[in-house]
Amino acid sequence: MSDYQEFITLIKRKTKIDLSLYKEVQMKRRLTSLRDKRGFKDFSTYYQALDKDQDMMDEFLDKMTINVSEFFRNIKRWQVLEEKILPELIKNKSQIRIWSAACSTGDEPYTIAMILSQKMDMSKVSILATDIDEKILERAKQGIYTERALKEVPKALKDRFFSYDNSLYTIDEKLKQVITFKKHNLLSDPYPKGFDLIVCRNVLIYFTDQAKTEIYQKFSQSLVNEGVFFVGSTEQIFTPEAYQLRLLDTFFYQKYKS
Ligand SMILES: C[S@@+](CC[C@H](N)C(=O)[O-])C[C@H]1O[C@@H](n2cnc3c(N)ncnc32)[C@H](O)[C@@H]1O
Repeated sequence: MSDYQEFITLIKRKTKIDLSLYKEVQMKRRLTSLRDKRGFKDFSTYYQALDKDQDMMDEFLDKMTINVSEFFRNIKRWQVLEEKILPELIKNKSQIRIWSAACSTGDEPYTIAMILSQKMDMSKVSILATDIDEKILERAKQGIYTERALKEVPKALKDRFFSYDNSLYTIDEKLKQVITFKKHNLLSDPYPKGFDLIVCRNVLIYFTDQAKTEIYQKFSQSLVNEGVFFVGSTEQIFTPEAYQLRLLDTFFYQKYKS
């Protein structure tokens, strides 16, 4: 077994995170550069250090998860959601359930909440926001952001939903109330069900094709009939019908009855 393969096995045993389901070339490159930066010549000695030093383990987890996010990321797609997808989706619905999977710092579920607040009574909205990274979920719950994360937020929404203090923006409590943040590993945990909309963006690109196939299947099973799956802007599904999905608009897929 290679040094890296051995490392994958040890990390899985310790953290339950299976690095073999992430594309190897990119992941190995990221982790090798981190390992070199910390002065270890191979993965075996790096693992021994990680095993003993929680700060180093946290740094490793931070690097492998890639937490970059922002509000209204790829804003044109959010306009399509707002103007075309949501009006149909919420029509005649007394309740709407949404899952923001791999939500990182929360920019994505809060973006969804802001959009929906203009369209329906928020007591009818529930958003589950999940990520594998517990630390990032704590930050998401706090809802404090720098200017950079807000660069695409329309002014009216910025004024309405953020308070500004000391160069930082804090999200409105009313939005927090409709969101439940929870740890969830897309590669190993059972998938919750019954969602009208699932948003999962900018994480599937890191997974192997085999892992993606299983994830698409599970997301499809988590959607109600006519429910919509919204993916990232480099994450088209090439054979949506294999998962009972049909293309609704670029990067939006709708589940149909079998
Ligand atoms: C680049 S961020 C994407 C954030 C947001 N969805 C967006 O598009 O702006 C990727 C997120 O995926 C999470 N992630 C990585 N592997 C995961 C897994 N196996 N299960 C759940 N989340 C995972 C990371 O912790 C990170 O927060």
